[in-house]
Amino acid sequence: MAKKDIYKKISGYNEIIQENAVLEKYGFNYEAKKGEVRSMIDALHPQRLDLTVSEINQETASAKSIKLVSGNGSLPPFQAGQYINLFVETGGIRTSRPYSIASSPTQIGHYEIMVRKVEDGFVSNYLLEELKPGNKLSSSSPSGNFHYNPLFHGDKLAFIAGGSGITPFMSMIRELADKNLSRRMHLFYGSRVEDDVIYRAQLDRIAALHRNFTWDLVLSEPAPSFKGLKGFIDAGLIKERLGDLDWTFFVCGPEAMYNFCLPELGKLAIAARKTKVEVMGVPKNITAHPGWPENVQAGNVFQLTIKGKKTIAAPATEPLMISLEREGVVIPALCRSGECSLCRTKLLSGKVYQPNGVKLRKSDRIFGYIHPCLAYPLSDMEILL
Ligand SMILES: Cc1cc2nc3c(=O)[nH]c(=O)nc-3n(C[C@H](O)[C@H](O)[C@H](O)COP(=O)(O)OP(=O)(O)OC[C@H]3O[C@@H](n4cnc5c(N)ncnc54)[C@H](O)[C@@H]3O)c2cc1C
Ligand code: FES
Repeated sequence: MAKKDIYKKISGYNEIIQENAVLEKYGFNYEAKKGEVRSMIDALHPQRLDLTVSEINQETASAKSIKLVSGNGSLPPFQAGQYINLFVETGGIRTSRPYSIASSPTQIGHYEIMVRKVEDGFVSNYLLEELKPGNKLSSSSPSGNFHYNPLFHGDKLAFIAGGSGITPFMSMIRELADKNLSRRMHLFYGSRVEDDVIYRAQLDRIAALHRNFTWDLVLSEPAPSFKGLKGFIDAGLIKERLGDLDWTFFVCGPEAMYNFCLPELGKLAIAARKTKVEVMGVPKNITAHPGWPENVQAGNVFQLTIKGKKTIAAPATEPLMISLEREGVVIPALCRSGECSLCRTKLLSGKVYQPNGVKLRKSDRIFGYIHPCLAYPLSDMEILL
């Protein structure tokens, strides 16, 4: 065969040429296909999900698992590690909170989330104390980038979880068990005391059945009788348990754990591209952040004006989104952690503090856009909604 005809060897080439000839002769009625792509996208990624609570189980003294089924048909597929943003109305306030899906992506008859009690928590307490089987909820579609990508992450995954940060990993580990994946996974799970450990029996069961999955429990305040690993998940422990360091690290938990563990990975010279991080919940004490200005005190309350609408009070220690929701102003939200850009808002005047981790595009910084879900007021200010 001549070199120029080599493409005829490509599988499907003749069929495409024939189809092309038919289309050239008879044309193609695109009208008949109108809306097909849109309805496919809507089925896979609906904007809102109507959910019904089908089961609630007390898993530890401070955490409950909540099973959610579709209120009107089926649930969209998701990737292990993704979250849904639950929209709730409690105490007359409409708000939302993201929760990672802990169930396996191999079955989408339901989503399981695990809610852990937070001291004075607004939504977590509502979900733990008031929600009952049969109640209706709505949420976003599954979202987020905290999931495995075979192109970048290789086949050795080390998970570092703190507290309720176990949930996205539980989904990944359950997927490994359901599909008998050949991927290697090791979990370091940090908890304060034994009674707070979520999913312990399931983790032990999966580890016993699948040699690709191993895990270590590390307690920071164990009872004297505890025989296992004590302290924090540090560089020494990581090196000792993993041997070589050619792993991709996924870190998920509260801000304090992330602040401790990332420098430990730094000591092991793990490249930033080999580390994926998800922080659960807003910072506990924003005024203790290194970048927080000295002249703004925790008790300061500023005036937040929504151009052409109203002026509300905005405490320095609260993200603007919460101050707005207290006053009945709800802006679109998904991650509530500065990542997804859905709440992107124009700042007309005034100053805000946005911690590291808020993913603002360079152009947004230049033209004065902020993410109110993780922006704290530092002065009186005006925004455009
Ligand atoms: C991607 C992601 C995944 C997550 N997955 C999980 C998970 O699997 N399990 C889990 O338990 N958590 C998870 N979280 C954390 C979760 O979203 C909540 O932050 C957590 O449940 C605490 O919420 P809360 O409302 O109880 O507390 P907070 O929002 O921290 O509330 C604390 C304080 O703020 C006040 N407050 C807050 N909002 C209002 C309001 N609108 N009006 C009046 N007062 C208010 C309350 O009075 C309270 O004092 C995840 C977070 C993210 C970002
Ligand atoms: S809700 Fe995602 S950036 Fe604010």
